[in-house]
Amino acid sequence: MAIKQKLLAASILAFQLNVVDVEIFNALFVSENSNNHLDVEKKSERSETVDLNDNTLQVDISDALSEREKVKFTVHTKTTLKDFAKQDFSVVRQHEEFIWLHDRFEENESYAGYIIPPPPPRPDFDSSREKLQKLGEGEGSMTAEEFKKMKQELEAEYLATFKKTVAMHEVFLCRLANHPIFRADTNFRVFLEYEQDLSVRGKNKKEKLETFLRSFSKTTDEILLGSTQKDVDEFFDKEKSFLLDYHSLLKDATLRADKMTKAHKDVADHYIKISSCLLEMATADTNQLERFATKTADIFEKARKIENRVSTDEDLKLSDTLRYYMRDTTAAKNLLYRRLRCLADYEGANRALEKARAKNKDVHAAEWSQHQACEKFEQMSAKGKEELIDFKVRRVAAIKKNLVELCELELKHANVTTPFTFSLKSF
Ligand SMILES: *[C@@H]1O[C@H](CO)[C@@H](O)[C@H](O)[C@H]1NC(C)=O
Ligand SMILES: *[C@@H]1O[C@H](CO)[C@@H](O)[C@H](O)[C@H]1NC(C)=O
Repeated sequence: MAIKQKLLAASILAFQLNVVDVEIFNALFVSENSNNHLDVEKKSERSETVDLNDNTLQVDISDALSEREKVKFTVHTKTTLKDFAKQDFSVVRQHEEFIWLHDRFEENESYAGYIIPPPPPRPDFDSSREKLQKLGEGEGSMTAEEFKKMKQELEAEYLATFKKTVAMHEVFLCRLANHPIFRADTNFRVFLEYEQDLSVRGKNKKEKLETFLRSFSKTTDEILLGSTQKDVDEFFDKEKSFLLDYHSLLKDATLRADKMTKAHKDVADHYIKISSCLLEMATADTNQLERFATKTADIFEKARKIENRVSTDEDLKLSDTLRYYMRDTTAAKNLLYRRLRCLADYEGANRALEKARAKNKDVHAAEWSQHQACEKFEQMSAKGKEELIDFKVRRVAAIKKNLVELCELELKHANVTTPFTFSLKSF
């Protein structure tokens, strides 16, 4: 299904860039897209981390519009569930509302034993903005041809970032929609169905303090989690050390993959400059080097396109995959924290019961609390185990698939990198 997204590329950057002249901006983006919309073909594989067998509740982002400092996502739902008033409907949501939804899941005790899908990252066009500014400043110092190519690069990069943002927000919703428990959540349904905006406000002082205290207790949990103290349950003990190691490995790999991707991108940008210098040489040295230099410039131009594709593919198949699972591993670690906290409550209830028995006071109430705490902990452990096993299957399949695709693409590009060897014959 080729769903088209419209993207108001011009306004976003123009409005965010107080510094950059709107003229430059228009020169960059608007001229070729007369009505300020760029049509973007949606990536078909973006929901690949999600199992899509069941179609009683299907959610996608059918449209996204970027405006002054915010992106408006059109969340489209198709469902056969009777709980919804309609079968096919759409609402407009912003990033903050996705975060609000995520926090509702994370804060609900009933979901403590589940891996809450990681929240989508905040839309970030800073790097595009910065590059645009640089390009605008440097316009005088480059040839028209060079400027045009750099501009194309920037457009492509901007679009790629935009598509990734949309995909990340969509994956988050798809995971909720495909989860047997999460899909029935009231807040999720409000998010999908309520036509007004959700009036999500920023946190006030008290809430900020609470968040701070929570993050503080998380640090304590991290120490607990990182401590060598053995969990009574071998499964969780193993998961604990595995997830801690795995997360730091993913983090490291993501950092390096980003560096590599950027290096390829830089190579492509340098090719533009080399190509343009060679063309100037050809003009200056008409008799001796014209043909040779022109040909070489042409080869660099071809190589630039390949290098760019390599960079984009690496970003999509490698860096983004690693990044997603880094965030998903964090979500899994959060489940372990919550279980530890639940264990602490259980142990507290045990101590309270002992005390009550020693004093022979309120024994019945203490027994009841202890029983409740025990049950809660056991239920949570059972659910958590299921979720962690499911996470493993999901993670392995997705990483495998993306790495195989990365290899295939790299092979393909390496094969075409032959403009260099290929063109030698034509000299
Ligand atoms: C938490 O989730 C349960 C189960 O979906 C629901 O019954 C309950 O109302 C939720 N609590 C809050 C505070 O949203
Ligand atoms: C590489 O190119 C050759 C010749 O064009 C072709 O036969 C071969 O199938 C290509 N290999 C890959 C992996 O694309």
